[in-house]
Amino acid sequence: MRAYRGQGIGTELVRRLLHKLSGLHMVDVMCDPDVQPFYARLGMLASTGMMIRRT
Ligand SMILES: CC(C)(COP(=O)(O)OP(=O)(O)OC[C@H]1O[C@@H](n2cnc3c(N)ncnc32)[C@H](O)[C@@H]1OP(=O)(O)O)[C@@H](O)C(=O)NCCC(=O)NCCS
Repeated sequence: MRAYRGQGIGTELVRRLLHKLSGLHMVDVMCDPDVQPFYARLGMLASTGMMIRRT
């Protein structure tokens, strides 16, 4: 929810998630380019990819 943004909640959630997944070789996040700086702050690297989405 927009009202809860900017209070550190997203950072803490992703930090805890990455800690839980720390034993995995790969952790991939699909996101729009404008949100990449948020994940970069948490140590993630920008990448490119390909996909198919069937509805
Ligand atoms: C992106 C999102 C998850 C961040 O959650 P949040 O709780 O607002 O983030 P935090 O409060 O932990 O912010 C941490 C820092 O990241 C920055 N940040 C947040 N969103 C950002 C973005 N899109 N681009 C760059 N920086 C961003 C904040 O400004 C903050 O910086 P500061 O500490 O210098 O003020 C949240 O804003 C959101 O849900 N946005 C809309 C949906 C979306 O884009 N989700 C991601 C889909 S993969």
